[in-house]
This record gives sequence, C-alpha cells and structure tokens, in this order.
Amino acid sequence: MFDKEAIKTQTLYIIENSTDRNTTLLEISKMLKNEVYHYDWVGFYLFDAAKDGLFLGPYTGASTDHTFIPTGKGVCGQVAQHKQPMVVQDVNAIENYLSCSINVQSEIVVPVLKDGKFVAELDIDSHSPAPFTTNDTELLEFICQKLSVLF
Ligand code: SME
Repeated sequence: MFDKEAIKTQTLYIIENSTDRNTTLLEISKMLKNEVYHYDWVGFYLFDAAKDGLFLGPYTGASTDHTFIPTGKGVCGQVAQHKQPMVVQDVNAIENYLSCSINVQSEIVVPVLKDGKFVAELDIDSHSPAPFTTNDTELLEFICQKLSVLF
C-alpha cells in the first residue's frame, strides 16, 4: 500500500519547483522509490525520433546495461511503439523482455505524451511478484501527464 494522494502532492511540488528537466526527473524517481515499497528501480527513458529508440535518462536503482533500447524491443520498446502503459506482473512469462537483473520479478511502464506525441516513459522494476494494481497505473499516469510540461 502507498499514499497515492500524498505522492501526487509531492509530484506537483517537485514539478512546480523544477529548474531543469533531468533534475526533476531524478527527484521524481527518488521520491517514488522512497514512497513505494514495491518500486525497486525507477527511471526514465527518453525517446530519440532520429535514432528510433530510447536513451536511458535519470534513474535510481541498480545500474543497467540497457542504455539504448530500439523501438519495439523489450517492454520499454513496446511502450514506445504503442504509446500505451504496459503492466507485466511476471517478467518470466513474456518473451519480448530485456532483463536488467535476476532480482526483477515485475515491471510497469507508462508513456509520457506531449500533444499526443510520445516523448519519454517512466519505467519501474519490482522485486515483488505481481505487485501492481490499478492504483499504480492511475498514479503513474497522473505523474506522466503532469511531466509532459517539461518536454
Ligand atoms: N526491462 C526493460 C528494460 C529496461 S530495464 O528494466 C531498466 C524492458 O524489457 O524493456
């Protein structure tokens, strides 16, 4: 369980006091990891249309080899392709998945859209099996919608 309304309030505060985008994205990542027990890696991938893929942006958690992900590859690349959130309750049950660590059991990825265009995504890995509910999706969609002002 987590306090969704308190996290929304903190999100708005961080965005209102934003000085630059990367600092803000890092602060949001850290805040989410601190507030939600089942969030073990929280970070952003930024879309590069010319390269047709995602570059790793600010994150908190273990370092990852996946610093560039082509559109369509893995969970992150599929979200870039379809511009829809993806909830994976068991990462071992899907084929198109890029593993970052053997500890990761589940993952949720939510797109950031700017005027309907895909610009970035929020990626969260969890060491808990099947931890996500509609509360997670609703909270993360709220956050990604608010973050679009930074792009
Ligand atoms: N698991 C992701 C790769 C990124 S890491 O989770 C940080 C994927 O399948 O796209």
